[in-house]
Amino acid sequence: MQKEPRNGCASLEGMDELYRDQILEHYKRPHNFGHVDDPDLEFEDTNPLCGDEQRVTIRLDDEERVAEIAFEGHGCAISTAATSLLTDELAGKSREELLRLPKEYVLELLGIEISATRMKCAMLGLKIVKSASLGQPAEWEDEGEAGDPSEAVADLG
Ligand code: FES
Repeated sequence: MQKEPRNGCASLEGMDELYRDQILEHYKRPHNFGHVDDPDLEFEDTNPLCGDEQRVTIRLDDEERVAEIAFEGHGCAISTAATSLLTDELAGKSREELLRLPKEYVLELLGIEISATRMKCAMLGLKIVKSASLGQPAEWEDEGEAGDPSEAVADLG
């Protein structure tokens, strides 16, 4: 799917391309991929629209802040890259801080416009991180539409 250039601005298009490359790079070589041994917090969940799943494991330090975080599972380019980017940012955060992270936090890390069909993909990791910090499924306002997993890369434009 061809994406409309925003405002016809060449520098914005260039930025989009950088973010797309970054997403593909995190998809191909996700950061923090695997699991933490003897985690203090863990949770796994699926994107109900496609069945893709991820599991997040977290080790806390003496001050109950994130010392180590990892994720595993399988998903599309957007869900994998989003969780890879997100987990890069969470060291040192308290459980409270994890719970307060807004959806925009992930959208800013991704840096490109996320379509309705990809929103659940983009938010899967955040939802799981929040659920892990709560120890139960986090309240979540459902949004987004079903998208074909195999088209996630093509959706990057
Ligand atoms: Fe399954 Fe994106 S997480 S299509």
